Amino acid sequence: MPQDANIQGNVYGGTIMKLMDEIAGSVAALHARKNVVTASVDQMSFYEPVYIGNLLLLKASVNFVGNTSMEVGVRIEARDLRSGKTLNTGSSYLTFVALDGNGKPTEIAQIVPETPEEKRRYLEGKARRDRRLSRH
Ligand SMILES: CC(C)(COP(=O)(O)OP(=O)(O)OC[C@H]1O[C@@H](n2cnc3c(N)ncnc32)[C@H](O)[C@@H]1OP(=O)(O)O)[C@@H](O)C(=O)NCCC(=O)NCCS
Repeated sequence: MPQDANIQGNVYGGTIMKLMDEIAGSVAALHARKNVVTASVDQMSFYEPVYIGNLLLLKASVNFVGNTSMEVGVRIEARDLRSGKTLNTGSSYLTFVALDGNGKPTEIAQIVPETPEEKRRYLEGKARRDRRLSRH
């Protein structure tokens, strides 16, 4: 929509990041079956511009689960409504922590990756978590 973009018609990165946080948070809460909060965003990349009028498609999946935290990967696609052409315009990895009724981190169910793609995402998510923890 026009309010989401600059005067050249480029959609703001912040508009897309808000959508990513909402979608990823929904996926995290659906997995945890609990309230979740965003703990960190590991990486946010924009590969291609998104313009006013594009249809945004956001796809999110739980890549890796620790004890109370989980990594959700999001892929953003933008579709030109006239041509139908769809581009992968960005991606991000967000970590969410599940909270109990007292607002304290609480354990969540593990995931069992099955397909080769799920296994690859799981290992990459684990590597990002290990790198993040080694920095603290
Ligand atoms: C995220 C938050 C709940 C973590 O609380 P905490 O007391 O530091 O929790 P702990 O040290 O017990 O760690 C709990 C889990 O969070 C993870 N975690 C904590 N800080 C993190 C960070 N910055 N990035 C990624 N993971 C983080 C830990 O690795 C741990 O994961 P695990 O249980 O899977 O091993 C707390 O920092 C918080 O409430 N932050 C504000 C969240 C928020 O309001 N977000 C909205 C935007 S402001």
